[in-house]
Amino acid sequence: MPFIIAEPLKDHRESYSEYIGRGGYQAWAKVRAMESAAVRTAVLSAGLRGRGGAGFPTAKKWELATSVDASRRVLIINGAEGEPGSFKDRTLMTLAPHRVLEGILIGAHAIQATDILFYINDQFDDSISSLQHALQEAEEAGWPVNTIKLLPETHTYIAGEETALINALMGKPAQPWHKPPYPTTQGYQGHPTIVNNVETLAVLPVIFEQGIAWFVRNQPMLFSVTGDVKRPGVYEMPLGTPLRQLLDLAGGPSQSSIQAVLPGGFSMPWLKPEHFDTPLDYESLRHLGTGLGASIIVIGNERSLYDQTCQIADFFARETCGKCPLCVRGTRTLAEQMAGLANNLNPDTVGTLVSSAKKFRHKGICSFLDTAAHMVEEYAVALNTPTVS
Ligand SMILES: Cc1cc2nc3c(=O)[nH]c(=O)nc-3n(C[C@H](O)[C@H](O)[C@H](O)COP(=O)(O)O)c2cc1C
Repeated sequence: MPFIIAEPLKDHRESYSEYIGRGGYQAWAKVRAMESAAVRTAVLSAGLRGRGGAGFPTAKKWELATSVDASRRVLIINGAEGEPGSFKDRTLMTLAPHRVLEGILIGAHAIQATDILFYINDQFDDSISSLQHALQEAEEAGWPVNTIKLLPETHTYIAGEETALINALMGKPAQPWHKPPYPTTQGYQGHPTIVNNVETLAVLPVIFEQGIAWFVRNQPMLFSVTGDVKRPGVYEMPLGTPLRQLLDLAGGPSQSSIQAVLPGGFSMPWLKPEHFDTPLDYESLRHLGTGLGASIIVIGNERSLYDQTCQIADFFARETCGKCPLCVRGTRTLAEQMAGLANNLNPDTVGTLVSSAKKFRHKGICSFLDTAAHMVEEYAVALNTPTVS
């Protein structure tokens, strides 16, 4: 498959004239002549699912915001990309900025947005300057990008969660709120708000360039592959590509072999080699108790899965935003109990860890504590299997 979302990801930033040369902004020209409801229907038929981690059907989310009668409607682009191991959004923003801008124009038209706020992690200097340059180029060429406000914000992991991100944009601490209300009906300054991941929007032009039938067949998706492979990088493959094929594309193991793969960054439990033929799609991975997320982290055989899980538990204990006392206590307890196994591994300590993890599942304002507990629980349960070290 050609690099359809991100043609230039191979090496350099795509200029305006290069983007125009490959048909850039033609999808937007087509879309702006369409009724916004027709755009939403096309995206629904294409089956596009959000690329920020949860995989929620994009057009269904849009429908929730457009069914509210409102004088203002807000589109927020989520350029936080805080998931460890993920660098696909950053790469896209840096190297294919016009693809991102064209996608934003289409998304904004689809929901009839009055405000377009581009939240970007302020550590992404290259992405920020690339987008600023692209905004200038597109504006000089007469595309209506002057409504897009690029807003670099301080990075924290939780700031990528949509309600925390909205709070940050409103000048409040970047902490989530308890839903409902959902942003789709009551988000930024109380207005119906859609938060979409950068890649979700950047893929929109493809639907209108290549047609719905092509999109349904191919479902192009970006995968950040990192860890113990020979060629870590961003790969564009159809949704549903078997994991093994992606690992081969990334050059295979950089260590003697691969013992596990995290298919959703630190947020989803790992897959073992017997599952490497699994298609990378939401349903297949859910069936195996894990999920597709922002990054694919490969763990070689020479590493200890115990150390990796301790690092993940520490990460969550460090990154909790502090709003829910239960989340602060829960993530800390899990990290301490994981660390404690190093010197005291017996059925009692493992049992305590499993029951702590179970106690903290499905708790907290957002999914943060649940995610931390899920990872630790998977590890503790797997301790009964001889392959875990
Ligand atoms: C702790 C946490 C961190 C998140 N970080 C990000 C992020 O960095 N980028 C992102 O696009 N979505 C992130 N999300 C998901 C967003 O809340 C939201 O679902 C997403 O931006 C929606 O976009 P989509 O529908 O286009 O996928 C995070 C969620 C959680 C719970």
